[in-house]
Amino acid sequence: MYDWLNALPKAELHLHLEGSLEPELLFALAERNKIKLPWNDVEALRSAYAFNNLQEFLDLYYAGADVLRTEQDFYDLTWAYLQKCKAQNVIHTEPFFDPQTHTDRGIPFEVVLRGIKQALVDGEKQLGISHGLILSFLRHLSEEEAFKTFEQAMPFRDAFIAVGLDSSEMGHPPRKFQRVFDKARSEGLLTVAHAGEEGPPEYIWEALDLLKIQRIDHGVRAIEDERLMQRIIDEQIPLTVCPLSNTKLCVFDDMRQHNILQMLERGVKVTVNSDDPAYFGGYVTENFAALYDSLGMTQEQAKRLAQNSLDARLVQ
Ligand code: ADE
Ligand code: ZN
Repeated sequence: MYDWLNALPKAELHLHLEGSLEPELLFALAERNKIKLPWNDVEALRSAYAFNNLQEFLDLYYAGADVLRTEQDFYDLTWAYLQKCKAQNVIHTEPFFDPQTHTDRGIPFEVVLRGIKQALVDGEKQLGISHGLILSFLRHLSEEEAFKTFEQAMPFRDAFIAVGLDSSEMGHPPRKFQRVFDKARSEGLLTVAHAGEEGPPEYIWEALDLLKIQRIDHGVRAIEDERLMQRIIDEQIPLTVCPLSNTKLCVFDDMRQHNILQMLERGVKVTVNSDDPAYFGGYVTENFAALYDSLGMTQEQAKRLAQNSLDARLVQ
């Protein structure tokens, strides 16, 4: 079944490039940049990948990103991810990157962007994988800081298709970013946002009504609000669901409790994605395989999920 799932043509619509930093590459970049790490080896780092919630993961994710310093580092990170896409028949990807994670450490915006974008362009040419890049704001920081990042991005406007919103959800509702999202839309950018991962259904309403998002990242808590479910179904608003992430971060205690197939059968446009594959135990195919192993996903359901991912692309 794994090989069959792997061969399905699919798009990945929820992937943080910084979350694809595998421990081996992390150690290699630390050595190249002469950075002393708090872990002795790859095994010690991997054993730290046990999380009780989103914040515990984010603390490690931001610490790991510190090894990314040069344009070549960002290129290598992105290229390694594209190789995984090729191996898993991901024919299109719309990855996020978090510029503030790097600019706040003194890495110039253009260093980050050039490395990532060059790899994505090479991926189109050499691997045949198309892309649309999404600039994501960190919601634990202020809207003013998001505006500053947006200004830094504007000279490179054409490198992006959309802006997004990620990081610590609780206590940082979408409404905090309404003005910067308005500004992004006025520049012709599309919008997406993480909502309803740990946060309540109200955050999904806000993301739809105030940030005017095209897609909901995660959104699994929508199931708690029937009126919201009806809207998502009626308007066919896609959800980028990340099953392994949700169990690693204890959004669901066990994969057998995951609601993705229940949503699929109700007519929600759900898709399967890997979020931060280096930290959560696998890429897109492993996420599909987990649904087969734990939820008894059929081949017909897998085909619909893969087709949803192709239909829900921001760039067609
Ligand atoms: N940044 C990276 N992964 C994330 C997630 N699952 N939720 C919020 N922010 C993130
Ligand atoms: Zn995410």
